[in-house]
Amino acid sequence: MIFPDYRPRRLRQNENFRAMVRETRLSPSQFILPLFVQTGKNIREEISSMPGVFRLSVDKLAAEAKDCLAAGVRSVILFGLPASKDATGTGAHIKGGIVQQAVRELKNAAPELMVVTDVCLCEYTDHGHCGIIVNGEVDNDATLEVLAKTALSHARAGADMVAPSDMMDGRVAEIRATLDENNYTNIPIMSYAVKYASSFYGPFREAADGAPQFGDRRGYQMDPANVREAFREASLDVEEGADIIMVKPALSYLDIISKMHDEFDHPIAAYQVSGEYAMIKAAAANGWIDGDKVMMETLLSIHRAGADIILTYAAKDMARLINNSSF
Ligand code: PBG
Repeated sequence: MIFPDYRPRRLRQNENFRAMVRETRLSPSQFILPLFVQTGKNIREEISSMPGVFRLSVDKLAAEAKDCLAAGVRSVILFGLPASKDATGTGAHIKGGIVQQAVRELKNAAPELMVVTDVCLCEYTDHGHCGIIVNGEVDNDATLEVLAKTALSHARAGADMVAPSDMMDGRVAEIRATLDENNYTNIPIMSYAVKYASSFYGPFREAADGAPQFGDRRGYQMDPANVREAFREASLDVEEGADIIMVKPALSYLDIISKMHDEFDHPIAAYQVSGEYAMIKAAAANGWIDGDKVMMETLLSIHRAGADIILTYAAKDMARLINNSSF
């Protein structure tokens, strides 16, 4: 059937029709809100390049948890800013570490909130790389044990899920084995399986103070030009025991999200990273775009491409908008 018999506009004529035939819907239950936690007391410091995102001290987390749940956001992922750093990232896995404290506080204040932890060393090493340095290079195999120890310490603190973001080879298997040996067989691994060496992480590195002090991360994160390599990375992580596979960043990698969704039957997560968030906020602050609408459109496109789960700094704002809309 073609025009004039078939008129696609018939089903767009009002919101009742549009809502009825809508193919994709966002739900706040898909969102994970990243939180930055730092040492100290009574700190709620806004990150200049990420309006609406704050570094919080542990005593501020209970209120934040209530705010998330009130908005309908049921899950957070934690990033820590430790009091001190060293060459091997010891602060990542000590019992009294900043993320371990934060997990205990959140699970105590709001047990129904899911607490995911980012497992990486870059915030804890004085050189800012995601692993242990041997002879001037990030040494893959020397890093695995530290990552596994970190994941275990998060599980011991009460984390519901761990999310390794370091991009070392073999880390999912190492973390799975360590968790299982310690009876944490029930803790899922959401692996940053397909993480690109992206310039969109800029604001995060300011927020989490994790910029590399020499070189860059291209020796372990993926080349933005590669698609087929993403299949190899995701396949390895699935074989090693990942429960959820993540693509990061999101908006410039919608093709990758779509292909991962078609190829794998594991849930797919996508991370709308700091630079993506910052660009929208900056344009909105200039009055050039409607920030909320553009943010929602990008999240919708990330979901439409195939992401079941979206990590986004806009989780609370977008959840409120979704809940207040009658469609
Ligand atoms: C840690 C990590 C980074 C991000 C998440 N985990 C930074 C990086 O890899 O350099 C970036 C998140 C964002 O930009 O919002 N490795």
